[in-house]
Amino acid sequence: MRVFVTGHKGYIGAHLVDILKQAGHHVTGCDIGLYEGCEWDQCVMPDVDLVKDVRAITAKDLETHDCVMHLAAISNDPMGDINPEITHSINRDASIRIAQLAKTAGVGRYLFSGSCSVYGQGEKLDLEETDPLNPLTAYAKSKIDTELEVSKLADDGFTPSFLRNATAYGYSPMLRIDLVVNSLLGSAIAFNQIRIQSDGSPWRPLIHCKDIANAFYAFLHAPKEVIHNQAINIGGNSENYQVKDVADYVEHLMPNADIVFTGEVGHDPRNYRVKFDKLNDVLPEFKLEYDLKLGMDELHKAMIDHGFNEHDFNGSQFVRLRTLQKRLNKLDAFQIR
Ligand SMILES: NC(=O)c1ccc[n+]([C@@H]2O[C@H](COP(=O)([O-])OP(=O)(O)OC[C@H]3O[C@@H](n4cnc5c(N)ncnc54)[C@H](O)[C@@H]3O)[C@@H](O)[C@H]2O)c1
Repeated sequence: MRVFVTGHKGYIGAHLVDILKQAGHHVTGCDIGLYEGCEWDQCVMPDVDLVKDVRAITAKDLETHDCVMHLAAISNDPMGDINPEITHSINRDASIRIAQLAKTAGVGRYLFSGSCSVYGQGEKLDLEETDPLNPLTAYAKSKIDTELEVSKLADDGFTPSFLRNATAYGYSPMLRIDLVVNSLLGSAIAFNQIRIQSDGSPWRPLIHCKDIANAFYAFLHAPKEVIHNQAINIGGNSENYQVKDVADYVEHLMPNADIVFTGEVGHDPRNYRVKFDKLNDVLPEFKLEYDLKLGMDELHKAMIDHGFNEHDFNGSQFVRLRTLQKRLNKLDAFQIR
C-alpha cells in the first residue's frame, strides 16, 4: 500500500516508517524537520522525503496514496500554552485541512494521532471513550477540535479514525526525554537522582512509542467497518501507573539513585487512568509489544550504551520545547509568531 505519513521524523514517526517499510509498504514522509540534528540514532528513510510544512500540503501531494497517517504536530503541552496560535494552526487547522484534501484526493483512510490528554481531569479515574472530554491545555483542545471536525467528513469513501494515544515512553532513534518515564530514567542516569516533579501520586496511562506505531500499522490493516469514524484509546489496561511506580522501577534499575521531589509541579491536574476495552474489542489481534518494565529495561540499556549524561539531560537535543524555541523561524512562512 502507499502510505502518507506526516511527522515521520519525530519520536513516534521514526518507528512508524521502519515498521511500514519492513512490511513492504511505500512510504511518503512529510516533515518540516523541526528537530533536525536531534537524532539519537540513524532513522530509516521513507521512499519519498517531502520536506514541507503540513500547512502547505496540497491534494496533489496526497493523490495515489491509500492512507494518511497524520502525526505532525507541536507535540508539547507547554508550547501549546506559550503560543496557542501555532498549536491551533498546525495541530487543529492543518489536521482538518489535510483530512479535507485527503478526501478530495480519493485517499480512503485518515488515521489521526490523538491523545488521551483529551480527558483531562475526569470526574472519575477510569476513563473510556464515551466519557466527557475536559481538555486542560491548548494541545488537548486541538486534538478534540480535530476529531469533531474531521468526523463530519466520514462517508462511504472516506474513513477517518482517531487514535487517542496514552503517554509515550521508551527508546526511539528520535529520543525525547520531555516525557515522564524517559525523564525519570534520564535524570537517574545523568545525576544519580530520580527527579519527580509532582508528589508522585498522579496516574498516567503509558505506552511504548513503538506500540503507538504498531497501532497505526494495525489500523491500516483493520477492517474498515470496525474503525470507521471511531475514536479509540490506544494503550493497555495493565499499563496505567502512578508516577511513583515508575520511580520505583527506576530505583530498581539504578539502586544508587536517590528519589528527589523537585516540587516543580505542585498539584498536577493531569491525574487519570484510561480503559482500553474498546481497542481490545475492535482489534482483538492487536497486542502491545512492550510493558513498562520491558520498555524501561530497553531504554536504560540504550542510555548507558550511548553514555547519556548531564549535558544530554540539560541540553536541547532531547527536549522538544528547548529546540522549538530556537527553530520558530522554520514556521515563519505562515507568520504565526
Ligand atoms: N509522545 C507522546 O506521548 C504522544 C502521546 C499522544 C499523542 N501524541 C501525538 O503523536 C504525534 C507524534 O508525537 P511525537 O512524540 O512523535 O512528536 P515529535 O515532536 O517527536 O514529532 C513531531 C514531528 O512533526 C513535525 N512537525 C511539527 N510541525 C510540523 C509542521 N508544521 N509541518 C511539518 N512537520 C511538522 C516535527 O518536525 C517532528 O518531526 C503528535 O501528533 C502528538 O501530539 C504523542
